[in-house]
Amino acid sequence: MTLSIAPDPASYDEILNALSEGSVNRHFDPYVDIDWESPEFAIIANDPRWILPREEPLGRHPWYLAQPVERQIQMGMWRQASIAKVGLDFEQLLIRGLMQYLVSVPNGSAEFRYITHEAAEECNHTMMFQEAINRIGYLDVVGMGSIDRKLTLIIWPAVKYFPTFFFTMILGGEEPIDHLQKSLLRGDTQMHPIVQRVMQIHVAEEARHISFAHEYLKRNVPEAHPVTKFVLSLLFPAAMRVMMSMIATPPKEFVEKFEVPDYVMREAYWSAPESRAQMRDIFADVRALATSAGIMNPVAKRVWKLLGIDGSASRYRSEPARRA
Ligand SMILES: [Fe+2]
Ligand SMILES: [Fe+2]
Repeated sequence: MTLSIAPDPASYDEILNALSEGSVNRHFDPYVDIDWESPEFAIIANDPRWILPREEPLGRHPWYLAQPVERQIQMGMWRQASIAKVGLDFEQLLIRGLMQYLVSVPNGSAEFRYITHEAAEECNHTMMFQEAINRIGYLDVVGMGSIDRKLTLIIWPAVKYFPTFFFTMILGGEEPIDHLQKSLLRGDTQMHPIVQRVMQIHVAEEARHISFAHEYLKRNVPEAHPVTKFVLSLLFPAAMRVMMSMIATPPKEFVEKFEVPDYVMREAYWSAPESRAQMRDIFADVRALATSAGIMNPVAKRVWKLLGIDGSASRYRSEPARRA
């Protein structure tokens, strides 16, 4: 699957219809497909499967590894619940934006059905995430911070006046979490079955959502006004970077609750070479999309680099990271 095919209106509709069929044939219900009451899903004390995995930057930091196991477990449980919470916050915003977008979709558009399927799946994801949080039991977990919540005020004008930017933000929310979940599922980390099952379902449905955002941008960006396109080329990497830090780094409440020193946070999430490489890897597919949509100009390239998310583009979607 390459990203370089220039879409035409017919193939866009065909792709959306195929995605809609996919939503009918392969979808999940959090209260049918997850057996929440099964004994293996029980939350038990001192369960080492909650220890943060290596894929989470803090999970491989010497400071974390030096904490007592019980503390590592508590931090892991809180962190998993907070990832679910920020995911939930993000899904709710997305659903609102999608509903607003649908208001102006004309009769006969393939977008109506597909986007409604996507919004229904996202509603299920919010229930799935909330159920997981409730069962993990750390009810003090928080999702998006207050600054992040204010940033989301740009969603409404974006949907109305700058929809390619709205779908860029959607992609910025979906790609980092999908990348993290896929790397955990591919790895050999033993996770708690709740986390494992929620991730499997999310990754399966998110593949369609990400495909749609890619198709939407491939279709609409190349034909946008040159000024709009240029502005988007700069906002695109910025949105990816901001959305990634919203989703991929623990909130300040976590840092305060578990008294994580500032230097540990800085090293784990921002300066460790492995974390920097991970940050670049997340966006390989998105860089390929930006290139094929014609928004990877020399100025934009400098922005990608400045934000630390530059690098090669993937040759096909979800290609494992290629490093020199
Ligand atoms: Fe989702
Ligand atoms: Fe999604």
